[in-house]
Amino acid sequence: MANAPLKKIITFYVRFTPSYSQIGYYARRPFWRRVRGDFAGQTWLVTGGSEGIGGSAARSAVAGGARVICVARDAAKLQAFANSVAVPERVSCEVADLSLRDEVWRLLRRLEERGVVVDVLVNNVGIQKRDQILTREGLETSFATNILGHYLLTREMLARGMLGPRATVIEVSSGGMYNHAMVAKDLNITGPGYLGVRAYGLSKRAQVMLTGHWRRQHAGSGRSFYAMHPGWVDTAAVGRSMPRFRATLEPVLRTHAQGADTIVWLAERRPLQMADEAIWFDRRERPAHIYAHTPRSTDTAQDLVDFLEHHAGRPPEAAQPTRHQTTEETAR
Ligand SMILES: NC(=O)c1ccc[n+]([C@@H]2O[C@H](COP(=O)([O-])OP(=O)(O)OC[C@H]3O[C@@H](n4cnc5c(N)ncnc54)[C@H](OP(=O)(O)O)[C@@H]3O)[C@@H](O)[C@H]2O)c1
Repeated sequence: MANAPLKKIITFYVRFTPSYSQIGYYARRPFWRRVRGDFAGQTWLVTGGSEGIGGSAARSAVAGGARVICVARDAAKLQAFANSVAVPERVSCEVADLSLRDEVWRLLRRLEERGVVVDVLVNNVGIQKRDQILTREGLETSFATNILGHYLLTREMLARGMLGPRATVIEVSSGGMYNHAMVAKDLNITGPGYLGVRAYGLSKRAQVMLTGHWRRQHAGSGRSFYAMHPGWVDTAAVGRSMPRFRATLEPVLRTHAQGADTIVWLAERRPLQMADEAIWFDRRERPAHIYAHTPRSTDTAQDLVDFLEHHAGRPPEAAQPTRHQTTEETAR
């Protein structure tokens, strides 16, 4: 019994390192066609677009001719990122904390006032916290950041016509979701029973389920919805939240561009997804479940949406949409 955790750790690394690290990337790459990366005339919005995987996706979009709205909390870091891309004028920086609903509402209002219509939305910000931290709005931080803020943003952009008729929405999820069956009420644990790695994995599972929900709700609309996994990438977040993991695997962790590759490819190709729920990784549709226990969850995508609706709150008066369409209306 004493060896059980060690056995689990060894099984984990043996199973996933060859695929999720650079080894998998280089093994698959020879079979890929070159991405043309022509995004001229498009507008992208990338959350967490000032560094890491989101920064790299934003950089590729700018290089391909797109205008990119990069959203993050730190204005100076955003500006430094904008100055570092091929054509800085194509980047517009939006300061907002995705973990706070009132900041998401304010962001929406600013974008709506500018008449922004987005072609590619990359819901990329994702954090893993070891310690339980509540936002000033009283929500568990990784739930609020990874799923609720993005849900609100996407729902409102759809309802307000801020996502173009052929828009692509990409959720940056994680292989970490494979361990977790959906238990919607556990997404936001604000009291005892919190475990950071579970909170993260559940929010990543929620992104995959929510993508299935948007796909069904907007089937035939011309819009595409995907969830993807970037692989194991050497980013600031990994160094901060998983220092031992990074120290062990540093030589084989993916670069930011390798992590962003499937985002850019999805945006360009908009492939047909066969399964109702899936996660894209290294340019291929992969199953949403690999363990027997996770599909047996009794919580459905509708339970998840109900839970998110319950926590989404109401817009502050000033951020009320001028022409608001309900989610139900959008579905019809
Ligand atoms: N790295 C990996 O190996 C890996 C593996 C699987 C999945 N993923 C997923 O990939 C995504 C990107 O991860 P990453 O490793 O590239 O992260 P990262 O390098 O830490 O980048 C984080 C970005 O998000 C912004 N950000 C953080 N918190 C924010 C908040 N509350 N509101 C708005 N912006 C915020 C940061 O800017 P500010 O600090 O200025 O806000 C920065 O632009 C995440 O969803 C993660 O779960 C990563």
